Amino acid sequence: MKPTRLAAAAFTAVALSVPLIPVAAADVQPLGHTRKDTLRQAAPRGFFIGTAVAGGGHHESQPYPDPFTSDREYRKVLAAEFGSVSAENQMKWEYIHPERDRYNFGMADKIVRFAKQNRQVVRGHTLLWHSQNPAWLEQGGFSKAELRSILRDHVKKVVGRYRGSVQQWDVANEIFTDTGELRTTDNIWLRELGPDIIADAFRWAHEADPGAKLFFNDYGVESVNAKSDAYLALIKRLRAQRVPVHGFSAQAHLSIRYGFPGDLETNLRRFSALGLDTAITELDVRMDLPEGGVPTEAQLAQQADYYNRTLTACLNVEGCDSFTIWGFTDKYSWVPVFFQGQGAATVMWEDFSRKPAYSTLRSTLAGASRR
Ligand code: G3I
Repeated sequence: MKPTRLAAAAFTAVALSVPLIPVAAADVQPLGHTRKDTLRQAAPRGFFIGTAVAGGGHHESQPYPDPFTSDREYRKVLAAEFGSVSAENQMKWEYIHPERDRYNFGMADKIVRFAKQNRQVVRGHTLLWHSQNPAWLEQGGFSKAELRSILRDHVKKVVGRYRGSVQQWDVANEIFTDTGELRTTDNIWLRELGPDIIADAFRWAHEADPGAKLFFNDYGVESVNAKSDAYLALIKRLRAQRVPVHGFSAQAHLSIRYGFPGDLETNLRRFSALGLDTAITELDVRMDLPEGGVPTEAQLAQQADYYNRTLTACLNVEGCDSFTIWGFTDKYSWVPVFFQGQGAATVMWEDFSRKPAYSTLRSTLAGASRR
């Protein structure tokens, strides 16, 4: 259960007195954003503070119209607060390529246009993944040669369409298991075509848009662990073969149920040391909601601390210039849909009023001195 708008607004005022998190007086206004006090305004030059653009995926089963196109307040905040946008679902295979001979570029085009109008960069998500693939692909019974040409055509067509408009592409998403093995069971590309297809996907993407930075992206790779080790080893091999891999990103779907991944900065530095860009791409911090659905002050303080430590780790690492949260309002978050009894994972309540997490991000951005 989510907090009601009223309960959330009332609680914001209470939460803002949490001693752990210094909060500026201006934040006590629950609504009303001006250009001067936004995250993107506070961010250092060249540092992109981003969000996922809500649409597709779980939103299609929720009782509201498409957020990005239908919610005016949402669009206003999206434009005002963020310097980078990621398509939450609208560039995934099942959405953008629903039939073998038909692409559905409408919504992705709208996002890219919106970004241009609002001087935002775009993160493209995603090209080679085991999930959210259309049935025609997964159950098509294609030969190896057909699959290879289907992937090549898709990558060339989608990346080529947005050539010059996408700053970073998540070329390969979630290709390792938590123990560091390639997902050769559920990832159709790896299962059918073997690991060499990864290098091909990066090469095709690079040919289609030589200016886009090409990333590996995953969850559970915030720390130094078997999965992030596997990425490090793979990326070293690929770079030695001159495969155009430019970045490694940690999604950072965190929960206050678990400890903060305190070695995040150390981990990012390992990739940075290879000459790669790094990024935080899908940060949210969920929590178990108490009865009544309203988080406690302590939970909100801990959440703010997790957001802030993630941002600080990124700011401290050279080449970590892109920091994206997976949605900015609880109104549209994927968390309560996936995790029963959990939620409140974003930096704004359902009515777009700001949580302590928002304030701490903004003040850390404003105080950051980079290079
Ligand atoms: O495919 C079924 C369809 O058959 C069914 O009729 C329909 C009814 O609800 O559900 C469809 O599945 C939905 C799926 O998107 C495909 O569109 C799920 O319910 C829905 O929960 C799912 O949500 C998306 C999720 O990715 C899928 O993994 C979320 O909107 C999206 O926020 C989330 O984003 C991912 C990133 O891409 C990668 N990293 C993790 C992150 C969170 O899971």
